[in-house]
Amino acid sequence: MPPMAHQFSRRQFASTSAALGFYALTARRAGSATAETHSIRIDPASSLGIIRPQLHSHFSEHLGSCTYGGLWVGPNSKISNIHGYRREAIEYLKALGIPVLRWPGGCFADDYHWRDGIGSADKRPKTVNIHWGDYVEDNSFGTHEFVGLCRLIGAEPYFAGNVGSGTPEELRDWVEYCNYPSGSRLSDERAANGSPEPFRVKYWGIGNENWGCGGQMRPEEYSGYYRRFANFVRPFGGTVPFPIACGPNRNNKDWTEKFFEAMPPGRRNIAGYSMHYYSNGPLPATRYTPEAMQQQFESFARLEQAIADQREILDRFDPQHRIGLIVDEWGVWDRMVPEEQQKYGHLWQQNTIRCGIAAALGLNLFHRNAAKLYMCNIAQIVNVLQSVLLTDGDRCIRTPTYYAFELLKPHRGKTAVKVENDERSSVGLSISASRRNGELILTLVNPRPDAAMNVACSVAGKSVSAATARILHHADLNACNTFDRPDEVVPKDYTATASGSGMRVDLPPLSVVTVQARLS
Ligand code: AHR
Repeated sequence: MPPMAHQFSRRQFASTSAALGFYALTARRAGSATAETHSIRIDPASSLGIIRPQLHSHFSEHLGSCTYGGLWVGPNSKISNIHGYRREAIEYLKALGIPVLRWPGGCFADDYHWRDGIGSADKRPKTVNIHWGDYVEDNSFGTHEFVGLCRLIGAEPYFAGNVGSGTPEELRDWVEYCNYPSGSRLSDERAANGSPEPFRVKYWGIGNENWGCGGQMRPEEYSGYYRRFANFVRPFGGTVPFPIACGPNRNNKDWTEKFFEAMPPGRRNIAGYSMHYYSNGPLPATRYTPEAMQQQFESFARLEQAIADQREILDRFDPQHRIGLIVDEWGVWDRMVPEEQQKYGHLWQQNTIRCGIAAALGLNLFHRNAAKLYMCNIAQIVNVLQSVLLTDGDRCIRTPTYYAFELLKPHRGKTAVKVENDERSSVGLSISASRRNGELILTLVNPRPDAAMNVACSVAGKSVSAATARILHHADLNACNTFDRPDEVVPKDYTATASGSGMRVDLPPLSVVTVQARLS
């Protein structure tokens, strides 16, 4: 589907474009590089919903070197740390702002028993991570350490509970341990373990991918499990839990329909419904071709369609639109390189400008669908899949994905507004725009490796001034930040010209530009 579904009337659009001297979409040659000309029209008075900061959330798992060795190095490590947390990672994540962080999985969640990760670290049991390589972990990172991490970086914790191999009692007790203020056996145990104050955890996933690694269930079967487990996730001390049901892989409508059909209407204790949608790619991260990249980018139009379809089914069962649609795993999943996994752990992949572009395509489409979505969590935060940080020994670098999140951060909390985009290809110019009071934020993405884009932007009924811009760009689609060259792909200040009710933004191939402007 084309990137923008919201249309101005063709006549209105044509007359505005002509008045501003903008061109219809054409392609012309500028030197040897192709340059496309685009006209877009922003309606700052419209509303597509508030861009909840939670759409920019993250996910961490006990997988490869995401948790152990990535976020957590332990208090006795030679690597600079804050009570065991890698100091540089904390600083970078805090600066980026992580609205919500999901943990401990993933597949790992449905084999995680929270009691293994509390109490004196040297007495915690050694357990086998059966999903990610059968390695033995010492459980030195558990509930207290995760909440401590969230507090340090300013994130709200999101716990994924164990349905696959756990019991309702175990989940019920975890909620009490975290949230009951004081005086019960479990809250006293929490206090004895160093946290008299309750953790006040709001987000509780009732399993993960229960159609797959979380138990290989049928939707009707999971519906029964959901009802039973969620029933014991109770409010304590003013913290009202937000139970999240496991939704489909990609756009599996059958899963969603059967899950809800099997759920008696009066017994739906569901606050969120989470789908997973990865953008798989056929090649190792640093060996992409333009064709393989295009193939991967095409998945973002399908993700946008999946959000529309899944929301439509949800609304059928929940006409009052009470259930929040969540995409709690998304991102590029490239072909793994065995030597890299050997060195850095399972699902480690480099992160190139292509990944930065992919992150911006994802965030742009989440903004455009702000009214349909509650939360989105890219997978995963450090050293796994589309990470924002990569680590090697004591080194920690920011990836192009980190910088894409940074560029799109100004949209958080603003109202998404309609844009007429003349792009007709699903892998062409991508846009999201938002406003608050007199401020307009516009993010434009050029995912083409072979064509620049000159974009004329008109703003309906307003004058634009004081436009400042930042760009993330690299001409080589396999360019990345390495431990030796950590600043190969970094954002830079950029120029956007504003005059009257128009702006002009030129996008080189493979670029993300965010413009911030004043409207009057
Ligand atoms: O993110 C890696 C894995 O992908 C997660 O553990 C699982 O939920 C998904 O299949």
